Amino acid sequence: MSKDRSVQKLQAAGGSGQVRSVRETMTALIREAQRQHSGGPVAKGEAAFESAQHMRFYGGGSPMLPESLRGLLRETEPSRRLSELVLPRQTMIDMRDLIAEIRDTALLRSHSLEPRHTVLLVGPPGTGKTSMAAALAAELALPFLTVRYEGLIGSYLGETASHLQDVVDYASRTPCVLFFDEFDSVGKERSDAQETGEIKRVVSSLLLHMDALPSHCVVVCATNHPELLDRAVWRRFELRLQLPPPGAAELRDWFNRTEKSFGDLGMTSKEFVDLFSGETFSELEAITIDARRKVVLSHGELAPRDAFLGAVERWERRRNIGDFVASGPTTNRQNPSRTRATNKKTRKAGVLPQGDLLGGAGDTSGS
Ligand SMILES: Nc1ncnc2c1ncn2[C@@H]1O[C@H](COP(=O)(O)OP(=O)(O)O)[C@@H](O)[C@H]1O
Ligand SMILES: [Mg+2]
Repeated sequence: MSKDRSVQKLQAAGGSGQVRSVRETMTALIREAQRQHSGGPVAKGEAAFESAQHMRFYGGGSPMLPESLRGLLRETEPSRRLSELVLPRQTMIDMRDLIAEIRDTALLRSHSLEPRHTVLLVGPPGTGKTSMAAALAAELALPFLTVRYEGLIGSYLGETASHLQDVVDYASRTPCVLFFDEFDSVGKERSDAQETGEIKRVVSSLLLHMDALPSHCVVVCATNHPELLDRAVWRRFELRLQLPPPGAAELRDWFNRTEKSFGDLGMTSKEFVDLFSGETFSELEAITIDARRKVVLSHGELAPRDAFLGAVERWERRRNIGDFVASGPTTNRQNPSRTRATNKKTRKAGVLPQGDLLGGAGDTSGS
């Protein structure tokens, strides 16, 4: 493609908001310039463009939501790409497959096929459900919209249904990743049985709307308790992924990445794996950020390994305080390693129900 034609195409595509076309034309221009200059600053240009691909081309990150929907949806800018997350190999493959399908919607449609666009993420807190939903939006260059339950659930009859309709109408018109975070917890927060019933109905009908939503709206739901969901609804998700606490391989991966970006952590990868076995990524993230903070505040005086070991010590103290409140003083104070073993036993992941749910047994939830 000649440079002039590329620029014309770019102008046309930019004006009509065709993100994909803009991306392809930009890439063609960069490659052409690269051929002429063989590397150098242009290669950097491509890298910069690649890293900025996740930024939306319209609005420059400013909120695009209509005023009337701001109480129902929250738009956030994803901070991570998928490659920045440590995921089990198969999970990463499944996500990349999904992304490839959605990116190639046009090709699929030319064969009368639609991409999958409904995803259920199951796992305990801190295993990356929210991060993964946001990363999906980043990869697809789509706005990341989280449903605000406090705004959705109305106080008078019919209000909730009408709010829900507003969200669905908007999502039908606007390509986006629509995220329902920890939606089982919404019901639990309300003590009134009638209200809980109302919320359960809302969640069910909301998910039933998924079928009506076009595939340019990617629906992602996160939960730690899939057993609380209406089973018929549960089965509607085309992709269901379990996010377990990190295993040894994921911990080693985290260790290697952190050593690369931060420095020596003062322990071997095996010691790291033994120490953090059964913990979640958000704990690891908190410790690493704590250590980074200390290094910055010391103006570089503190070595990363000392900062990290200090952060681990503070984490162990903090964790034991939580355990003390939850399960009494004896085990925790006297035997921290036993505490860790106890934690592992009691902290049970929200396991994807096997057999009947995936295989199609009857709905027992009664809603
Ligand atoms: N798979 C992961 N890889 C890397 N970091 C992760 C991963 N999962 C979670 N984290 C870190 O833990 C923090 C909390 O994760 P989050 O996505 O909010 O978990 P969840 O939604 O499952 O509670 C994130 O900010 C991120 O830094
Ligand atoms: Mg979350």
